[in-house]
Amino acid sequence: MNRPVMEGLRLDAPAYVKNARLIAWVAEMAALAEPDRIHWCDGSEAEYDRLCAQLVAAGTFRKLNEAKRPNSYLAWSDPSDVARVEDRTFICSEKKEDAGPTNNWTAPAEMRALLQTGENALFKGCMRGRTMYVVPFSMGPLGSPIAHIGVELSDSAYVAVNMRLMTRMGQAVIDVLGTDGDFVPCMHTVGKPLGAGEKDVSWPCNATKYIVHYPETREIWSYGSGYGGNALLGKKCFALRIASTMGRDQGWLAEHMLLLGVKGPDGKKHHVAAAFPSACGKTNFSMLIPPAGFDGWEVTTIGDDIAWIKPGADGRLYAINPEAGYFGVAPGTNDKTNANCMASLKRDVIFTNVALTDDGDVWWEGMTETPPAHLVDWQGKDWTPALAKETGAKAAHPNARFTVAATNNPVLDENWDNPAGVPIDAFIFGGRRSTTVPLVTEARDWVEGVYMAATMGSETTAAAAGAQGVVRRDPFAMLPFMGYNMSDYFAHWLALGEKLAASGAKLPKIYCVNWFRKGADGKFVWPGYGDNMRVLKWMLERVEGQAGGEENVFGISPRYEDLAWTGLDFGKEQFASVIGVDKAAWQQELKLHEELFGQLAYHLPAELTTTKAKLEQRLAA
Ligand code: OXD
Ligand code: MN
Repeated sequence: MNRPVMEGLRLDAPAYVKNARLIAWVAEMAALAEPDRIHWCDGSEAEYDRLCAQLVAAGTFRKLNEAKRPNSYLAWSDPSDVARVEDRTFICSEKKEDAGPTNNWTAPAEMRALLQTGENALFKGCMRGRTMYVVPFSMGPLGSPIAHIGVELSDSAYVAVNMRLMTRMGQAVIDVLGTDGDFVPCMHTVGKPLGAGEKDVSWPCNATKYIVHYPETREIWSYGSGYGGNALLGKKCFALRIASTMGRDQGWLAEHMLLLGVKGPDGKKHHVAAAFPSACGKTNFSMLIPPAGFDGWEVTTIGDDIAWIKPGADGRLYAINPEAGYFGVAPGTNDKTNANCMASLKRDVIFTNVALTDDGDVWWEGMTETPPAHLVDWQGKDWTPALAKETGAKAAHPNARFTVAATNNPVLDENWDNPAGVPIDAFIFGGRRSTTVPLVTEARDWVEGVYMAATMGSETTAAAAGAQGVVRRDPFAMLPFMGYNMSDYFAHWLALGEKLAASGAKLPKIYCVNWFRKGADGKFVWPGYGDNMRVLKWMLERVEGQAGGEENVFGISPRYEDLAWTGLDFGKEQFASVIGVDKAAWQQELKLHEELFGQLAYHLPAELTTTKAKLEQRLAA
């Protein structure tokens, strides 16, 4: 298919593209964006290598030392384009109340005028001087009944190569799409058209940014950023914001959750889905190495960031990881915090905004105890430990990332690509809280679990632009990723629980965790990382009805003797300081729940206010 789109531009679709809606949409978007050429990505290794070489020639990529980090590249972004931009993210549903009070909303017609149809619409001619890449991708195993297809049009080759690592991408997806398969259209531009003869910059982007979702028509339009979740549209935009609305309509869940498998010494395997806000250790938890004394225990990764979960015919919940790679936070990752991740990063990686060593390799804060004597930082400036001491300059940006295919992970679960998914035994919800929230509590029932998840708070991190370390309510770790009204989403969870219970199936247990409580010295009390296995083991024993615990105001927590302590020197007093429920702190915390419920009053399920009242009674008793 090589019909002209406009003067000087042909569609150039390969013969294997047979989907009429796709062909028409690509032609329509090309006529709007006016790229110089169109490239249909086939997803092959040869294409990946070619695009990477092109990015090296353009100065976007630097090839790393082949002997130290084979087949790997480093990109440094524009200093203004380093994180997700939540304040520029919009849910443009027909009705404002369907986007809800936690989302930015603009009426679809108004947004379309701004982006597409108005006289000065931002997407008009936005790709001039550039190539438009057609990137077909599957979220989930190709052809799985839980998977869905998207097609991203982007003028960024960086996006195209990252999408190849993060999703199943290329011709095979077009084949599954066939003549009339459905796809989510995802339109992306860096927003920097090139004039005739204009020299490009290494990281084109625009100070104006729009990350826009139309839930009713299931479309994504992203303008002005080349970074992460703003630009790799399969991830947050599709797999969470658009998919959450699909899940609401079709009876399933799209969640900001890692997925892991745990095999005990008896050979029995459980599967756990765990939601944490961005940069709170999901990748580390999903690749956990059990500590000494846990012989025979094995943790394997299904996913590190997103889970799509559907009820199966047997009444259990089955989950897949819609992604095929990891876009993880590099700083803080090392052989102690996540040796499996470090092993995954030995080769075939795209690094973004980490530092460059003098021998052509990468470094980030926390990678080694002693930093190299000299580095080039993520902004291309000389960096030394002395300079860092004097000025606090970071060698890597705190939100620096690696992109790597899941198949590089040495502890990848055997079922990570299984189209049927894995059955969920437990859900975990965790925030980053220096105080108040105990190490672990088990919800007494599904409704209390939904309450725990709905009222979760967390200190903000560098994953999003804006202030850091501020506690904000982050229900289900979905605050930046909800595609519809938050209270309707709570109701969806409650309804799903009721439906599963009515089918007679055993519901997954729900837990709330906090690895981040600090002592009077300002240091974390709980060692975390591999030692989180102690908590995980307790949870799974609870699932099997084998472990003890005691009721408290907030749920059921382990007593000291309920956890296995082999190999760790952690006394009763220390344990008390991470598990304790301080009444005064909880009275304050409940005021914040009250505030949240006030904000979410429209459609807030009555079950949640009833659960809050019970909590208050227990606290007052
Ligand atoms: C991510 C995020 O990139 O949550 O996964 O910010
Ligand atoms: Mn995430």
